[in-house]
Amino acid sequence: MCGIIGYVGTSDSSVRVLIDGLEKLEYRGYDSAGIAYFKNGEINIIKSSGKLVNLKNKVDLNDNSNIGIGHTRWATHGNATTTNSHPHKAGKFTIVHNGIIENHEELKKCLEKRGYVFLSETDSEVIAALLDYLYKSEKDMVKVIEDAKKMMNGTYAVGIICDDVKDELYAVRNSSPLIVGFGEKENYIASDLSAILDKTKKYVTLENDDVAILSPENVDIYKDGVKKSYDVKTTSYTDDEVSKNGYEYFMLKEINEQPEVFKRTLLDYVNTSYSNFLDSMPDLTKYKKIRIVACGSATHAGLVGKQMIERFANVKTEVETASEFRYNPLFLDDDELVIVISQSGETMDTLKALERAKENKNDTLGIINARESSIARESDYVLYTNAGKEVAVATTKAYSAQVLVLTLIAMNLAYKKKIFTSDEIRNILTEAKEIPNKMEYVLSDHRYKEIAEKIKDQNDVFFIGRGVDYALAQEGSLKLKEISYVHSEAYAAGELKHGTISLIENQTPVVAVITDDRIAAKTISNIKEVKARGAYVICITNDDYDLSCADEVIKVPKTNDLFAPLLSVIPLQTIAYELAKIKGNDVDKPRNLAKSVTVE
Ligand code: F6R
Repeated sequence: MCGIIGYVGTSDSSVRVLIDGLEKLEYRGYDSAGIAYFKNGEINIIKSSGKLVNLKNKVDLNDNSNIGIGHTRWATHGNATTTNSHPHKAGKFTIVHNGIIENHEELKKCLEKRGYVFLSETDSEVIAALLDYLYKSEKDMVKVIEDAKKMMNGTYAVGIICDDVKDELYAVRNSSPLIVGFGEKENYIASDLSAILDKTKKYVTLENDDVAILSPENVDIYKDGVKKSYDVKTTSYTDDEVSKNGYEYFMLKEINEQPEVFKRTLLDYVNTSYSNFLDSMPDLTKYKKIRIVACGSATHAGLVGKQMIERFANVKTEVETASEFRYNPLFLDDDELVIVISQSGETMDTLKALERAKENKNDTLGIINARESSIARESDYVLYTNAGKEVAVATTKAYSAQVLVLTLIAMNLAYKKKIFTSDEIRNILTEAKEIPNKMEYVLSDHRYKEIAEKIKDQNDVFFIGRGVDYALAQEGSLKLKEISYVHSEAYAAGELKHGTISLIENQTPVVAVITDDRIAAKTISNIKEVKARGAYVICITNDDYDLSCADEVIKVPKTNDLFAPLLSVIPLQTIAYELAKIKGNDVDKPRNLAKSVTVE
């Protein structure tokens, strides 16, 4: 949510670095953008509402500057106007901010009494004014920022430049992510590594409450006003991972990467002889119950995980939305494990849910894609998904990697509890090796666009399924609505007749998922019920059921029930993608959304 970039160096390329960085960060927010840089000793601020291209049209990339900050915004306080865009300047301070200053109204009133005039409706502008006010009586920048920190409640990652010091860039972090990148006679700040990967692979992740002072040759990091030592890390990510590699959209590239992601993630937990499988995960047999907490698609992955863990490992598992878990009565048992799932590892509600579980003294396990992220650092155990960088706002490959890790947890638990014998595990894992090929087969089906064409003029789409297929229906529905802007809802197939079936009209699309043989006949009856009311039925299945009642049948390959969701989710993702494209939407950056939701 909001992307921050900052540069200080001996070259004059600041403007270019800022714009390049914002291009990479645009997935974090894209309703307005801006940069501020020193040019001939004067601060120059250029901002624009709308996508980054509007800002680019206003900027001269050849402007010489050795220091600057940039921001791409996802509006929280105030509309996406040019005035509300960052950077904000007050007195001698110019800032960019990601997060929310909860007591901004109170701070604003105090600062107004001291002569500050606020131009924007944002919570962020008070940070610039507060720093400027404190700087009037204290010139030590670390102390100024420390004092400001004490007065601000909320979450923030802030990049700061000061009119008086034209070769230093400042940064402070509390909850919202921020890294420092180390180059040759130049240093950077960024919301994430992707913004600077083409410039450097060396970085440090700032911790909560860290204050950093960057000059071209040096970076000092302070904690509570005291300089601290730090280890510079080197990432193995390459810039290639954040390019489209010939695909029209990142989302399509990422859908197509799923076979590779499956192979990579599986190899992290199972070697070729399967000999490490028992030990590649922590022993979770001591937990009598599991609570999975996450947001959005990660919750849907959790719902698949619940089905797998309950059915195969016989452990009671509940799934709760992180934003609800945070404030509901907890009812966590002492021997209950809390699993948090997050691609970004920075989702604020999930992070706060994790903190609540830890405060309650429950063990926590994070299933995380972004290494070095806050949730990865704070979880007691971490199991990484190896999906690589995901750029499209709508998750696809990270979701399926989360489902895979949850499935492996179910298998691992079942193995340790002796529900599965080693022969059974060996057979299942041998079958798993076939999944990438089967995924390729599903990806090669050419009918997704045709199906999207058929439903493109409909206002509502319903998704149905039972058990694990209901979990998939929920993910299919979210994928469709978030990028195509067509209203959709997911229902347990047996639930439609208790109300929702009244919405089925002639040609209303109903997407049914049937992969669980034990209850397939029941869902087929539900398909007949909607068909009798005129629905246009698209059925995704992996078996030879008589589905003559459906208008379209997408047959995915049969596999062990443990892996079935990883195949049947692909048509759901791809139909959503095709529909969004037909509608002319920006598939990778759907309106009103952002990739990393670092506000509550
Ligand atoms: C939907 C989507 C979101 C995320 C959710 C959690 O396509 O991507 O629903 O799944 O915002 O994000 P992470 O996994 O980063 O915590």
